[in-house]
Amino acid sequence: MALNIVIMAAGKGTRMKSATPKVLHKLAGRSLLAHVLKSCEPLAASARIVITGHGADQVEAAVSADGISFVRQMPQLGTGHAIQQVVPALLGEGTTLILNGDVPLIETATAKALVEACAGHALVLLTVDLVDPTGYGRIIRDPDDGGVLAIVEHKDATPEQRLIHEGYSGMMAAPTAALKRWVGQLTNNNAQGEYYLTDIVAMAVAEGLPVLGIKAHSEIEVLGVNDPVQLSQLERAFQVRQAEGLMRAGVRLADPARFDLRGTLTHGQDVEIDVNCVFEGDVSLGDGVRVGANCVIRNVTIAAGARIHEFTHIDGEAAGASVGEGALIGPFARLRPGAQLGAEVHIGNFVEVKNSTLAKGAKANHLAYLGDATVGERVNYGAGSITANYDGANKHRTTIGDDVHVGSNCVLVAPIKIGNGATIGGGSTITKDVTPGDLAVARGKQVALTGWTRPTKKR
Ligand code: UD1
Ligand code: CA
Repeated sequence: MALNIVIMAAGKGTRMKSATPKVLHKLAGRSLLAHVLKSCEPLAASARIVITGHGADQVEAAVSADGISFVRQMPQLGTGHAIQQVVPALLGEGTTLILNGDVPLIETATAKALVEACAGHALVLLTVDLVDPTGYGRIIRDPDDGGVLAIVEHKDATPEQRLIHEGYSGMMAAPTAALKRWVGQLTNNNAQGEYYLTDIVAMAVAEGLPVLGIKAHSEIEVLGVNDPVQLSQLERAFQVRQAEGLMRAGVRLADPARFDLRGTLTHGQDVEIDVNCVFEGDVSLGDGVRVGANCVIRNVTIAAGARIHEFTHIDGEAAGASVGEGALIGPFARLRPGAQLGAEVHIGNFVEVKNSTLAKGAKANHLAYLGDATVGERVNYGAGSITANYDGANKHRTTIGDDVHVGSNCVLVAPIKIGNGATIGGGSTITKDVTPGDLAVARGKQVALTGWTRPTKKR
């Protein structure tokens, strides 16, 4: 049976007071609309249709993907009008699931339950018991058998109806053929002069079709984002949900209230994460990895036993980055795209590594830059040393062999090769390849002016 999923996302989102369309605001690093699309992805719909209007170009560009189509609603005359626009795009005789682009935390299981209860013939509403139902459409039930009779919008509701705490979440599953027919019959004789999708409920009841209300098991699933306050509340709720999931899987978080994951975190056993860490993109932490406070970690694989000390910034971007077993990184270290660190590598404070491979046991402990470099095993890379990898037009590689000792404050002007076991004297600017085992020194010779006197201040 064909399943259409329709996501309404044409509204303006005035209360966000933002130039960005509401559904593109981010929650845990992903747009509100992308959350909705992701949670209904496992439903394997025949069609996924997003209704766009305000900021349509931007919204369509942001979420366009295979199997997603767009229908524009201009102007926006209400939720019923939105579904009228989509009618020609609906496939088959089965079920149409209607979701909201600004209600990001709808769970897959709930969406599935709506579709299954509909089964192409019942009208199924997702409802929620709200402490404060102000603004919500109210579910009117038959006092005798509890069956759903209608939805009355808050602005059209009588004082008695406003006492009802069961609200309509804005999500439903409807038989596609009947839905097409019903939205064709909507009028806008109501308090807001809009075409209300919710008016189809009374039509279904009048036709004798089964109308069911399914209650969401958590309020957070049906909460919409209308302003930055609500966005931040959902963000926190989502973060707590993720943090609890990780802790149940054995990750030890110092404080789930000070943990942010904007992507996916895979982990081994006995992982410990101190406060105020932000994880983004795809991060993998091996067994026993410990992350100190205040780290920002994005797109990287960190092997077992590695320690990431406080205030470290890792961003593998698209290229990714990796940290080997038992490596020690930070505090105050910066790993950039293409940093590939072997086992037991040490990267200390104020050291930046970009597009460089460091073999087992290599160390750069203080104030250094390694860019476009290949560094051998057990290399000691001194404080203040840098690879001059950029000549103003192109990037060049530096190759440092095993057991090389680079003194402090050296400039290695790429392209250059330092042979195995070589030593670079402190303060050298190295522009020529160094033979294995050699000592290379390239700096002004020290002179001693015996008997020299310091200038004295003129009167
Ligand atoms: C709607 C429901 C209300 C429910 C509430 C839950 C109607 C008439 N009312 O009210 O019963 O309790 O949601 O949040 O459906 N949209 C369009 N085109 C439009 C109007 C809206 O695409 O012309 C989209 C919005 O972008 C939004 C969704 O539909 O994603 C809901 O619109 P909104 O204006 O928030 O509906 P409410 O009036 O709050
Ligand atoms: Ca709303």
